[in-house]
Amino acid sequence: MDVVLGVDIGGSGMKAAPVDVTTGELLAERMRIPTPQGAEPDAVLDVLGQLMRHFDYQGTVGVTFPGIVQGGRTLSAANVSEQWVGMDADTFMTQGLGDDFDVHLLNDADAAGLAEARFGAAQGVQGTVLVVTLGTGIGSALLMDGQLVPNTELGHLFLQSRSGKARHAESWASARVREDKGLSYEEWGGRVSRYLNHLELLFSPTLFVVGGGVSKKADKWLPYVQLERSRVVPAALKNEAGIVGAAMYAAQQRPSLGEG
Ligand code: BGC
Repeated sequence: MDVVLGVDIGGSGMKAAPVDVTTGELLAERMRIPTPQGAEPDAVLDVLGQLMRHFDYQGTVGVTFPGIVQGGRTLSAANVSEQWVGMDADTFMTQGLGDDFDVHLLNDADAAGLAEARFGAAQGVQGTVLVVTLGTGIGSALLMDGQLVPNTELGHLFLQSRSGKARHAESWASARVREDKGLSYEEWGGRVSRYLNHLELLFSPTLFVVGGGVSKKADKWLPYVQLERSRVVPAALKNEAGIVGAAMYAAQQRPSLGEG
């Protein structure tokens, strides 16, 4: 068994669990602590420390971040503090937790994509797969024959309304918008359909996997999503995908000691 702790930093909660990265299984019930108001780096690091203590864990840690992550640096912050932008967050967390830890960070939707491709709804699917997460924001993971193309940020596309108005996809079709605007599942499902149709036009994926908390209630809105050519299915790992993908990624990044 190869165990790595996975942590998912979400808009409302930070969730963690030890993961067997060879099977994708969580080895203990996941622990959730509310994301600190404003999600500033110091406060997030503090919660990370609490999660490590809860599991009495030391070692390699995979952490998702809801923004662009390149070479361990956090380069955007749509739904968290601006202080993250340009930070070497990987080093900040590794040093902040102390010598017994080795933290590896990746984008949250990319983590979900890795997990769905290996253990979930996109397992064994060849060709282009788009994993789209609908939550506080909209995240995307582009996979080709199971290989991830990181940081695609397709939630920030603009769609044109019938009257020609530009609509920011995330601000129009995220799960948060449905709640904030009190949209019915039919109305919101129509928006998701419009958004996925545009992605279908651009990428012609074989399969769309839709994740985020709403994937648990897919029967309510998926019937309103109509696509010409692509199949669309809810994420199989539901909201565990981020934790599993983070752990998988960190396992790949660690020095090759004990691999295989
Ligand atoms: C961010 C993405 C993230 C998504 C879901 C967007 O606002 O730009 O990086 O994957 O939200 O959290």
